[in-house]
Amino acid sequence: MNENAYGPSESVKATMRESLSLVNRYPDSADALVGEIASLHAVKPEQVVVGCGSIEILRMAAATFLGRSKKLIMASPTFDPIAEYARRAGAAVATVRLTTQYAHDLDAMLAHVDASVGLVYICNPNNPTGSLTPRRDLETFIRRLPSATRVLVDEAYHHYAGTSSAYASFIDRPVDDGRVIVTRTLSNVYGLAGLRLGYAIAAPGPARQLSSIRPPMDVNVLALRCGATALRDSDHVSLSVQRNANDRQEFYNQANARMLRVIDSHANFVMLNTGGPAEEAIDHLKKHNILVAPPIPSMKRYIRVSLGKPQEMLEFWRVWDLMPHRKMQM
Ligand SMILES: Cc1ncc(COP(=O)(O)O)c(C=O)c1O
Repeated sequence: MNENAYGPSESVKATMRESLSLVNRYPDSADALVGEIASLHAVKPEQVVVGCGSIEILRMAAATFLGRSKKLIMASPTFDPIAEYARRAGAAVATVRLTTQYAHDLDAMLAHVDASVGLVYICNPNNPTGSLTPRRDLETFIRRLPSATRVLVDEAYHHYAGTSSAYASFIDRPVDDGRVIVTRTLSNVYGLAGLRLGYAIAAPGPARQLSSIRPPMDVNVLALRCGATALRDSDHVSLSVQRNANDRQEFYNQANARMLRVIDSHANFVMLNTGGPAEEAIDHLKKHNILVAPPIPSMKRYIRVSLGKPQEMLEFWRVWDLMPHRKMQM
């Protein structure tokens, strides 16, 4: 599930141990953590919304900006829980296939835009493909959206995106546009998936709207404290990114050695063309206790593999090699 196999930093573990004595108490307000996030990104605290994982913020965005007679536009395949949140809010959902380069097809998405579009969801880098949508294209796209339409840019895999000129975070290099909401998570690079912490950066207006439906005390006492420590520990972020780059390169090497194709990944997982029905590969791996993502209906030959530690990946390839030979598609 795209977690960081190496876990959190030592400083986070120390904070966790120190905070254990607080778990009989309800959490403090999130103000200290919000202040930490605001200073990390040089924004005002009123631009920060915290959530119990960034998935909670996706849910809040669907509940706030969608409803009956509204529409969500999103890609396919992408990280799709927001589609279910939109439907629950009574909204219509328009899905648009990624381009052949696995970028969001922004022209086709624009073709779905009308006055009913409350929200556009852009996942960049995209899950499950690990691919980028060029920054310049996104800027043009956003400029063309109606004034009442919000666009949520999910940057869950931001740290792994690398230094490609095609990519820039909408937090680090914001556009002067109050319609853009950016989400981040502490689940992957920070190694804290089990603590459940994510956040959004938005203009004060939409941030206030989102926060107004935040359940009280959703962020637990350990997440509040450990999250703040994690965000301060930039060395651990660099280490996680470097390890991921090494592990990803080794994955490519192993795939190449077997003449398997992959989609170039800007994330901590890789889409691997299995050369046959994805379900068969998934079942085979599962029989040997290796779990990969569920099948992706529109990519019938691909499986999404989250990168594990080197030892775990050796086991992945050992089990892979036990699979009956399949003819690879070149
Ligand atoms: C693109 C994307 N956004 C959000 C999430 C949810 O992250 P969190 O653990 O912060 O809820 C995930 C988790 O897999 C993801 O892939």
